[in-house]
Amino acid sequence: MDLIIRRAMLPPGAAPQYKEPVDIGIDIGIEAGRIVAVEPKLAASAREEIDAAGSLVTPPFVDPHFHMDATLSYGLPRVNASGTLLEGIALWGELKPDLTQEALIERALQYCDWAVARGLLAIRSHVDVCDPRLLAVEALVEVKRRVAPYLDLQLVAFPQDGVLRSPGAFENLKRSIAMGVDVVGGIPHFERTMADGAQSVRLLCEYAAEQGLRVDMHCDESDDPMSRHIETLAAETHRLGLHGRVTGSHLTSMHSMDNYYVSKLLPLMRESGVAAIANPLINITLQGRSDTYPKRRGMTRVPEMMAAGINVAFGHDCVMDPWYSLGSGDMLEVAHMGLHVAQMTGVDGMRACFDAVTVNAARILGLEGYGIAPGCAANLVLLDARDPVEAIRLRAARLAVVSRGKVVSRAPAARAALSLEGRPAQVDFKLHPD
Ligand code: FE2
Repeated sequence: MDLIIRRAMLPPGAAPQYKEPVDIGIDIGIEAGRIVAVEPKLAASAREEIDAAGSLVTPPFVDPHFHMDATLSYGLPRVNASGTLLEGIALWGELKPDLTQEALIERALQYCDWAVARGLLAIRSHVDVCDPRLLAVEALVEVKRRVAPYLDLQLVAFPQDGVLRSPGAFENLKRSIAMGVDVVGGIPHFERTMADGAQSVRLLCEYAAEQGLRVDMHCDESDDPMSRHIETLAAETHRLGLHGRVTGSHLTSMHSMDNYYVSKLLPLMRESGVAAIANPLINITLQGRSDTYPKRRGMTRVPEMMAAGINVAFGHDCVMDPWYSLGSGDMLEVAHMGLHVAQMTGVDGMRACFDAVTVNAARILGLEGYGIAPGCAANLVLLDARDPVEAIRLRAARLAVVSRGKVVSRAPAARAALSLEGRPAQVDFKLHPD
């Protein structure tokens, strides 16, 4: 074999054929980019072996909601003074005319390096299609091609200024799909009226159904409890038979909605197979800005949706861009914030937050071969933790990251978790030199 990881602890339920916990751990055999064996005391040898020594091995982190065209642009051309969503959108508008393809590609590739070092091997990124030059689309299609050997990058055609409100946006969106963008995006709450918002949802879902594409809309990213485009999105999904292929991102208005209305909405979402993505770091930062006190948290109803049988994932959304000054591509930080904001502090809730940045997100992207079983893609992360809850608690170091069967990043134990600030994990940054 090419690689064997020995004595690994797996996330609960990852290898149901073995009674958990398996004290001696499980061995994972890898050949030609695939997992070929998952069993205790695997009787085989390999060119390379890694001893997990009882630490957690998990399928990679998956970020289902990101903006790679804006990432690492913090401070260009100025910082967001109010810290609000709307100033962020205005700031992005100021930056757009100055964007160059080279700079976009360079920043995106740098972010992908950070991602890999943190075991983040699949990202769904929205890309703004409102600039008729489609410069960001061209750049990210090129980035997708370049990172394909080690990272799955899925692109969403995102009409940031509104598909109806921004002249030519729908044509640009269709052109971007022809250029290699994968998913249809939208932003109904940013259209001029509620009616226009609903019309944009219909238009975009019909186009996706015609083209056989998935849909992922920024939906109801607002504190307004009457922003109810998710209802239209779920109804259109049902009408057009798009079950399992549509996602509502953000859904922050649900935080403020009337409880009776939500009791009708969640079964509708479940019936339509619409998935939901919360972006905890960004929602807690941007929502509730017009409140005095008490201030709303703004994150959507994560545990309630999970309990209703809706697939819910967490996204990073932003890293060092017009909307968010912080972040480093660490999905454990995202899970950590989501857990706190949603008050998911029971054992099942904490584990569900780990699923929200791994398996649930993988389902939204439709990743094939995701998991730890013979036949799955050999994409794995060895964490400096024994189980998913400890991984979240420590934002555990990624001791080894395996992509397509190859070790692509390593980091030392313990100290790595304290270091880096965006440096590649291979750098042994000693805070306390011996
Ligand atoms: Fe977003």
